Amino acid sequence: MISKDTIDKVFEFSRVEEVISDFIALKKTGANFKGLSPFTNEKTPSFIVSPSKQIWKDFSSGKGGNVIAFLMEHEQFNYPESIRYLANKYNIEIIETAESAENIEERNERESLFIINSYALSYFEEIYSKNDIIKKYLINRGLSKSTIQNFSLGYSHDSQNEFYKSASNKGYSDNFLEETGLILSTADKKIDRFRGRIIFPIKSIAGRIVGFGGRIVDSTKKIAKYINSPESKIYNKSKTLYGIYESKQFIVRDDVCLLVEGYMDVIQLHEHGIKNVLASSGTSLTKDQIILIKRLTSNIIILFDGDQAGLSASLRSIDMILEEGLNVKICSFPDGEDPDSFVKKNKKDFMLDYVEKESKDFIDFKLDINSDFHNDEDKKVALIKNILKSISLIPDSLKQEIYIKKLSSILKIDEASLFRSFASIENSKSLKKSSRKLYGKKIVKVQSSKNENTSSYIYQLERQIISILLKYGAEEILFEDTRLSKDENGKVLETKKEIRSKVFEKIYLDLQQDEIEFTHSPFKDIFNKLINGFNNGTTLSIENFINDLDSSSSKIVSDILINDEKYQLHDWERKNIYVKKIGSELSQLVNETILNMRRFLIDKKIIELQGFQKEDNKKDILEQVMSYYKLKKVLSAKLNRVV
Ligand code: CTP
Ligand code: MN
Repeated sequence: MISKDTIDKVFEFSRVEEVISDFIALKKTGANFKGLSPFTNEKTPSFIVSPSKQIWKDFSSGKGGNVIAFLMEHEQFNYPESIRYLANKYNIEIIETAESAENIEERNERESLFIINSYALSYFEEIYSKNDIIKKYLINRGLSKSTIQNFSLGYSHDSQNEFYKSASNKGYSDNFLEETGLILSTADKKIDRFRGRIIFPIKSIAGRIVGFGGRIVDSTKKIAKYINSPESKIYNKSKTLYGIYESKQFIVRDDVCLLVEGYMDVIQLHEHGIKNVLASSGTSLTKDQIILIKRLTSNIIILFDGDQAGLSASLRSIDMILEEGLNVKICSFPDGEDPDSFVKKNKKDFMLDYVEKESKDFIDFKLDINSDFHNDEDKKVALIKNILKSISLIPDSLKQEIYIKKLSSILKIDEASLFRSFASIENSKSLKKSSRKLYGKKIVKVQSSKNENTSSYIYQLERQIISILLKYGAEEILFEDTRLSKDENGKVLETKKEIRSKVFEKIYLDLQQDEIEFTHSPFKDIFNKLINGFNNGTTLSIENFINDLDSSSSKIVSDILINDEKYQLHDWERKNIYVKKIGSELSQLVNETILNMRRFLIDKKIIELQGFQKEDNKKDILEQVMSYYKLKKVLSAKLNRVV
């Protein structure tokens, strides 16, 4: 683990505007910097960096946050990778906290393998630069110098062990050289694995070399056309995708990933300006690879050559992609063509057009390749079941419904019977899966909170509370305090008085009193941290506060701060001037937000209670519902007056 001291130092020295300008051209406008969003294709700059707040905001994609959030979004680094990147940029020594001896050894071993690979990379590039025959080969295949450099292509001598000798001379140990797979060892000699091959370095998402692919140049030789590094402590094939380092930002920008088979497909598409592309490198797609893509986009188009192998690989991939909640389309090429040859022949626009027109969703695709079902009833039934099975893997029930309806309209089969058949697939699935006993209770399907609905009412309310706390949490103002309570007959009573209170105290106590919990976990996290901060009496610095949050929370905070800039109320240093003026407005805003939140929760409670009416004591429930209705009426009246 990186020590807290190192992390603190990294935050102290990093300047968000400096870090970002390594990737984006920024222009000074007033107190801020502006540039073109790297996440979309925009023409007018809406990407803003605030040096005073040390945050950034991209209005065209909605992303934003601190310097770490930028590296995580743009470079797809994780948190430690971002810290390491910054430490390296600002020459800060990374101190690791106490690690076990094995850990240190393991890390050193991995580091050694990376160092050897990076040495090998420059060695192969160097050999390549001096070999005109090989250069000619790549030029013939249509690659330009800049593409060759971008993918760090190289060449390994066609001799037994030139590389080994050179690496040994450098002092790299036989053990590590073998572990990387660059060297093969027999009883009496060492052999370069990639001798006589063009080298395709395989990079991690952060750009480190994890392994190599090598292609023969002379196709008349009766040896494998491609060979690859074996797996090692730094190369896990099922978690690697070729091209991820070179393509990641374009996949994010275009919000779709083209998935191809081979090295040359990726490189040739880049050569022609189509850069949102990755290759599974000959192996069939794995779940981990899909999860890697999911960090960048939720849309995948599989491009495959029309042969049988490509077809079956695509079919296997479809279900896995659907299961991860991603959208998938499939685009096949004429027999004998792969994306490499196709784009080389037809050029960019034709290629993009072709992909756009030929890509099919999984239903159309499956119907297409099984077109003989039309005159065979059994085949038709099997095909429908197969498609329903794929649909059942999709986590989003709305999408499921849309696909079932689509299937029904294409095949002209009654929707209801498709849904019945679908339900039985779902049933047998959940029976198989669940080992839990069901006690005949209503099962409430809880939606995953991953894709939170940011336009929902409760989201807006919770955001509002955070916004108020961020801007005015420590201010002390007069509140008109209304307390609602019930007397022994269940009648709702309303008492009112003016009290002076700090904004955060008022909000905290009111929410506590009503046992209101935030439903969106990042808000909950921010809320707790803010309240803690205020309670400790420390003056919260916005910069430190944001730096202590995880990336999704820091994005939310900077979002709130920058988005509301137009009101000129955000300014933490100058806010005192405004607070006096808006004191009464502020107390009104606080009251209104909390009342709205209560009303919302009461609505929810009513719906919940109604849902349980059948099973539980009816009379009891009815009474509860009625009292909630009354409470709601009072609240609504109150709100109308406030508004
Ligand atoms: N592959 C491999 N080992 C092989 C053959 C193929 O690892 N013996 C992988 C490589 O990643 C290759 C991909 O599968 O890029 C696709 O193979 P293939 O279609 O045979 O090669 P192309 O990419 O078309 O290569 P080229 O155009 O250079 O002939
Ligand atoms: Mn090819």
